[in-house]
This record gives sequence, structure tokens and C-alpha cells, in this order.
Amino acid sequence: MVSRGVAVIVALLALNLTVSCHASLQYGFYKGKCKNQDVETIIRNIVTASWFGDQKIVAGLLRLQFHDCFVRGCDASLLLDGPTSEKTAFPNLTVFGYDLIDQIKAALESACPGVVSCADIIIAATRDAVVLAGGQKYEVQLGRRDGTVSQASLVNLPAPEISVPAAIQFYAQRGFSTRDMVLLLGAHTVGVTHCSIVNSRLYNWNGSGKPDPNMDPFYVMVLQNVACPIGQTFDNFVFLDDPSSVLKVDNSYYNQLLRKRGILPIDQGLALDPTTKPIVQQLAGNNGLFLSQFGQALVKMGAFQVLTGTQGQIRKNCRRVN
Ligand code: HEM
Repeated sequence: MVSRGVAVIVALLALNLTVSCHASLQYGFYKGKCKNQDVETIIRNIVTASWFGDQKIVAGLLRLQFHDCFVRGCDASLLLDGPTSEKTAFPNLTVFGYDLIDQIKAALESACPGVVSCADIIIAATRDAVVLAGGQKYEVQLGRRDGTVSQASLVNLPAPEISVPAAIQFYAQRGFSTRDMVLLLGAHTVGVTHCSIVNSRLYNWNGSGKPDPNMDPFYVMVLQNVACPIGQTFDNFVFLDDPSSVLKVDNSYYNQLLRKRGILPIDQGLALDPTTKPIVQQLAGNNGLFLSQFGQALVKMGAFQVLTGTQGQIRKNCRRVN
């Protein structure tokens, strides 16, 4: 009888352990965990103040979430400092927003030390920024924990010249559909790239000595003359979306693609490839649809390979492991 009781207790303990190791993300995860403070409100207030100072933060955070989540999952590994950490890998050299995350983390550490993960801060702050820029509000589930490994050699993000079929495969291997991919690339509705990345499309596409015929010739001329003239001594930036809408989260990016005004090869490719073109057309014609589905795509990306329960740690400082 006693041994049966012990067996039941052991089984219950094992179950509890399993649950805590494989805990899942939750809505309102921090409710009641940060004294009487509301974690998501603290984050939103700081993001809002930052956005009023510089609306480019929306682009910074969206890209930061992507580059964090697609390398070892959404575990804030991108935030770790170090001579060979992810930050030092080429695609991450122009990522920004780290200071804002530090600021939010400092506020949360003073409200309730050791409670809120850096990985959750990235997800909630990005959501708040998207909403400020005109996106539709979406709920985020929290409860991520922070990773302890960050190596530049593990950064395997797609290059801007990736073909659409290869990009579809890249996303599919990680459990994302073609539609998810087209929606997530909708993040290019905000932000910039650089002439060094666009110049081959403007001047020497595929070694032809000519511009990419799939770019609107008028747009080519504007970019050649205004943003990226030959001989320019600095690496100027180029808006990824229509300049009048580049700070706004909306479907104008897809409309630009249909007008052959996509900037990165992968952007324009979405409107050329027969698999992705119908999705681009649909999103270009329906801003409400884009806004609601973009949020959901970000939620899906934010749940990619997360650490929960007893995995990882809650870093005290987002730049260092404890
Ligand atoms: C096949 C997938 C993707 C490729 C090849 C790609 C590539 C790029 C490149 C080359 C840039 C310009 C970087 C620079 O010149 O500094 C860029 C910018 C950007 N990307 Fe992507 N990207 C992809 C997907 C995504 C996703 C999924 C998101 C977020 C959900 C995202 C968000 C951004 C944002 C917001 C910017 C502008 C950053 C700024 O203004 O500083 N990208 N991307």
C-alpha cells in the first residue's frame, strides 16, 4: 500500500517536472509576477516614448525579432555581446534597437528583478511598435526564457538575392508556409536598405551591365540619380517601401511590388514568382486583411523554438548571461 502511494507521488512529481520543462507560452504570463506592476504596460510606455523620439524604431525592432527568432529560436541570443556573438555576423551589423531593449530591461529589473526575460521583451516591444506604426493590435503570449549561447557562425539568415523557391524552402524547413513568408516579408513596409545591396539591380544586373528589367525604369532612374549615384563615397540608404509610407505598417509594400518598385531582389521576386504572386495581389488589394494576418504571422514567428519552463534563464542584463 505504502509503495503504491510512493509510486503515485513519484508519477505526479514526474508529471509536474514534464509540465514545467515543456511549459507553453501564455497570455498574461506576468500577471501577479511583478509585484503590483503591469509588465506589458511598462514595456508599452517605454516603446511609445522611444517611437515619439524616432519612428525608425519600428523597423529596428521588427528586424531584430526576425534575426533573433530565426537563429536558435526566439531566445534573445542576438542581444548577447561578445567578440564572436550573433551581433557580429554580417547580416546583423545593421540591426539596431539594442539600447531600447536595455532601457526596458532596466525598468523591469527595478520593478521586479529576475522576472521578465529579454526574449519576451523583444516580442512585446515589437508588437507595441507595430501598433504605433498603424498595425492592428495583436495579443502576444509570453513566458519565453533566455538562451545562453550566441555564435556568429550559427547565423544562417537568407541573403537579399535568395530566389523565391529557395526562400520558400528556407521557411518551410522551419515550419512556416509560403503565405507566412509573404506576410512576414511585409515587414519591409517599414525601413531601409543600402545602396551597396541595391546597386547591382541599378547598374549591372546579372553581369549584363544594365539595370534589372524587372524594376520600373522610372524608379531605376530616380534611384540612380538621387539615392545611389555612381561614385558616391558613402553607402546611402534606400527606402524599402514608398517613401511616403515608409514609417507606416500597411500594405503599400505589396502595391510597390506590383508596380515593379520592390527594392531587394527577394521583394520583387514575390510579385514575379507564380506561387507567391497571387498572395501579393490579394494582400495589395486588402489592407485590413494584411494588418490582421501580419500580426498573426509575427505571433507565429515569436513562438519559434522558444525556451520555456525551466529551460535557459532569465538574464539580469540582456547583453550577458548570468
Ligand atoms: C527572405 C527573407 C528576408 C530577407 C532576405 C531580408 C533581407 C533584408 C535586407 C538585406 C535588409 C536591408 C539591410 C540593410 O541594408 O541594412 C532588410 C531590412 C529589413 N528587414 Fe528584412 N529580410 C527578410 C525577411 C524579413 C522579415 C521576416 C522581417 C521581419 C518580420 C524583416 C524585417 C526587416 C526590416 C524592418 C528591415 C528594415 C531595417 C532598417 O530600416 O534598418 N525582414 N531585410
